[in-house]
Amino acid sequence: MSTMSKASLASFAMCCILGSASGAATGSAGLDRVAPTRVSKLGAADQAGALVRGRQVYDESCMVCHATGVANAPRPSDRPAWDARNKQGFDVLVRHAIDGFRSHPPKGGMPALSGDQVRDAVFYMSSGRAK
Ligand code: HEC
Repeated sequence: MSTMSKASLASFAMCCILGSASGAATGSAGLDRVAPTRVSKLGAADQAGALVRGRQVYDESCMVCHATGVANAPRPSDRPAWDARNKQGFDVLVRHAIDGFRSHPPKGGMPALSGDQVRDAVFYMSSGRAK
């Protein structure tokens, strides 16, 4: 923590307060219990669609933390970070993104997102094709 700048700490605190406040409105029962489609098994056209949709979700809901690496949020461009996390398997990443994982809030603090939208965003972020 001491290595974090005050600015990134402040923005982290802000987005987590917002995240838990909006999450509390629906409660965890509101979370989708999706069994995410394995994107690796999607055809090329479906994968291209998932990347386009995922990028939009990422830009709107995820980059606030992930673009700057707030609280060690993996940046989409950080290949070593994603290589390590991808070893868990894509479905585990999606499960964590939906349910919450350490400092990552459920659905990134956006309970209105569907499970498929979160899955597409995870695909975009973990694909190596994001900037
Ligand atoms: C409030 C800040 C914040 C927001 C917003 C946020 N994340 Fe995260 N995310 C984090 C942090 C911090 C981590 C690293 C958690 C750790 O490993 O300690 C993380 C980790 C992850 C991981 C890796 C999980 C794993 O198993 O290693 C995925 C996937 C992820 N986020 C997806 C998303 C998606 C998709 C969105 C948008 C819908 C999003 N995040 C929005 C903070 C955020």
